[in-house]
Amino acid sequence: MTLLRREKSFIKTLSAILGLLIFLFPFPSFSYEVLDHHDGEKFFNPGGDELKGFWQVLKWKMTSKRVEWPEHVPNKNYPLPDLLPNQKINLTFINHSTFLLKLKGLTILTDPIFSDRASPLSFAGPKRVRGAGIPLELLPPIDVVVISHNHYDHLDEESIKLLDGKFHPLFLVPLGDEELLKKWGVQNVKAMDWWNEERIKDVKFIFTPALHWSARGLTDKNKCLWGSFMIDDGKSKIYFAGDTGFGKHFSEIRKRLGPPDLALLPIGAYKPQWFMHYYHLNPEEAVLAHVELRASQSIAMHFGTFQMSDEGIEEPVLDLKRGLEKFGLGEKDFFIPDQGESFSLSQ
Ligand SMILES: [Fe+2]
Repeated sequence: MTLLRREKSFIKTLSAILGLLIFLFPFPSFSYEVLDHHDGEKFFNPGGDELKGFWQVLKWKMTSKRVEWPEHVPNKNYPLPDLLPNQKINLTFINHSTFLLKLKGLTILTDPIFSDRASPLSFAGPKRVRGAGIPLELLPPIDVVVISHNHYDHLDEESIKLLDGKFHPLFLVPLGDEELLKKWGVQNVKAMDWWNEERIKDVKFIFTPALHWSARGLTDKNKCLWGSFMIDDGKSKIYFAGDTGFGKHFSEIRKRLGPPDLALLPIGAYKPQWFMHYYHLNPEEAVLAHVELRASQSIAMHFGTFQMSDEGIEEPVLDLKRGLEKFGLGEKDFFIPDQGESFSLSQ
């Protein structure tokens, strides 16, 4: 009994040390040429950065007025999406920033996370409070996976490996993250810089800017790029914003690529504002992004699955409703989906 307890505590300590080592040294080293968003060593946001350091993280943790989330929230039962060939774009909100998208015969996943925690450690870090709207085992064959950046709630190692083993899809990732995926054994990966375009069948995937940052450990801050995607099948354009603060990039994307028919916009992880504001939209800014993009319609994401910040689980939804009212908009303009809920866009 004592031996078993000792073994367990040894294994726990060993996993903590391994976790810490992965956290400290997660990447092989690589470098890129100097660009308007890369200084030769690191990527940066062209308008300037407000990266928070250790002391600000400590201040947040010491002064945090975190609203506790429930341990578990049950999902409603929704039918699996219609994936038969038709003239529609079908879309299902799975959880957090994960959408299943079917257009022009391609099945696409955005920032897939199916793990229990958004963390490098299996026993610590943000834990999911609800199941995935579609479990990974019930997914249809996936052709393309788009990754917006390498934070743990957007680039989940376990999900990537399972998807690669099951479907061998093409992974479209920001510059730098290809090294990590290759280290995990993924071969079918394409790294993209901002404004790069990848055409798969008749669908264009354009990697577009976002106001954010990257890191998986303490030593790799901004070594990899971050961004968003415009997915264009020739008839309709779907914009996936990834993780972002509010910035000029929304109007720039609209000017260069045209307004999207549908924008998938994050509304959660915005409190406390002094800490979160620069790199995460608050719900009112998500409405502003919808307006700047001139999106025909938007759907909310990045809320209700993992507690990444201090706001309560219901706050993003309530604040989004207030934000929409302020701009004279409503649910038909910016919809708040349930996990597992599907939508169709006629083309
Ligand atoms: Fe992020």
